Amino acid sequence: MNQKFDVCVLGLGYIGLPTASIFATKGKRVLGVDVVPEVVDTINQGKIHIQEPDLDILVRAAVQSGNLTAALKPAPAETFIIAVPTPFQHGTEGHLPDLTYVEAATRSLADVVQPGNLIVLESTSPVGTTEQIQGWLLDELGPSARAEDYHFAHCPERILPGQMLRELVTNDRIVGGLSDEASRRAKALYETFCTADIYLTDARTAEMAKLTENSFRDVNIAFANELSLICDRLGIDVWELIRLANRHPRVNILRPGPGVGGHCIAVDPWFIVAAAPDESNLIRTAREVNNYKPHHVVATVKKKAERFRDPVIACLGLAFKADVDDLRESPAIEIVQHLNADRVGRLLLVEPNVKTLPVRLQGAGELVTAEEALTAADIVLVLVDHREFKALSRRLFDERVVIDTRGLWS
Ligand SMILES: NC(=O)c1ccc[n+]([C@@H]2O[C@H](COP(=O)([O-])OP(=O)(O)OC[C@H]3O[C@@H](n4cnc5c(N)ncnc54)[C@H](O)[C@@H]3O)[C@@H](O)[C@H]2O)c1
Repeated sequence: MNQKFDVCVLGLGYIGLPTASIFATKGKRVLGVDVVPEVVDTINQGKIHIQEPDLDILVRAAVQSGNLTAALKPAPAETFIIAVPTPFQHGTEGHLPDLTYVEAATRSLADVVQPGNLIVLESTSPVGTTEQIQGWLLDELGPSARAEDYHFAHCPERILPGQMLRELVTNDRIVGGLSDEASRRAKALYETFCTADIYLTDARTAEMAKLTENSFRDVNIAFANELSLICDRLGIDVWELIRLANRHPRVNILRPGPGVGGHCIAVDPWFIVAAAPDESNLIRTAREVNNYKPHHVVATVKKKAERFRDPVIACLGLAFKADVDDLRESPAIEIVQHLNADRVGRLLLVEPNVKTLPVRLQGAGELVTAEEALTAADIVLVLVDHREFKALSRRLFDERVVIDTRGLWS
């Protein structure tokens, strides 16, 4: 491929695909790169492999315009944007960040990058990662490469699944370059489609800003979750309690849930804890409170199930939040896995946003419709407040034991 692209986006998932597509619809020549051949094939057909409202329309327009092409390998471009996963290492002491995807993506640029190029890290990353990608690239390029010839910036992404296309355009952004020129160039790039304010800072502050935002959310959700545990102990309706407390003009308590999922809020605070363990007690404790909540839900279901000989349990929702198909780090899945492992009852699983069960739930229960589940269930466990569940008639829940971890009707 000899064509020179304006932008090459590495990683065509929830972040990279909308980003690549919106650049393409704004007239940039974009190469999207992913290591999964099916992803590349699907996008080149103008189709999508993930669920997000209106993303299919955007991708189709981008591909049909001829400005978006997908490939398995990067090609020369003015700017490279890295949007690959940044999970933490499962099973490690201290939840250390796993930067192997970022490192592989960075090193894969060595054959195509040219002096003067801008490399933007969009993946949510621990403080210091932008400096690290500079080190990896220079290492891969060899001793003749000069650091000042390549420009590096971090531009974290804040878009909310379910509203990504709107937020991509309207959210304020933070851009932190390793140099002022990198910051300026990255800002100019995002101004192609971003209509909100773009704030410049250094790379480390930009990295910490994203982690701070998600830790703020996590700590506040932990407060709500802790209240729900206390209320269960004291026999108080937590939904009514929060509604009343929020009538105070300076109180705004969030909603409790079955735990905190997804690959952002449940992950990113650990990057702070790993970097500054002695100083991040509140952030770590919030993670622990939120991680404990699924165990509390399982214990509640077990207690309610004791009164039935062969309990049938309808589990409504598997995704990590409402109205998305994203099952990663989902507390609902963790709860179903525990209920299955402990043989608490027959599980009927309802998830309107997926067609098949993920591998880790195969054998755990049957994937059925909400109506089928509710007809057969003794216990209804609401795990996600999908719009399909909110639309169900309350009558279907009559004479069932309902455990509502989301306050579906509150
Ligand atoms: N999804 C969100 O809501 C969200 C919001 C803000 C920030 N983020 C952050 O954005 C980053 C990407 O998240 P995502 O949700 O888009 O992940 P994703 O898993 O949906 O997509 C990542 C894609 O990268 C591909 N990939 C992996 N290694 C690659 C490589 N070496 N070269 C090219 N492609 C490669 C994967 O195949 C996958 O398709 C993460 O750091 C995440 O924390 C995500």
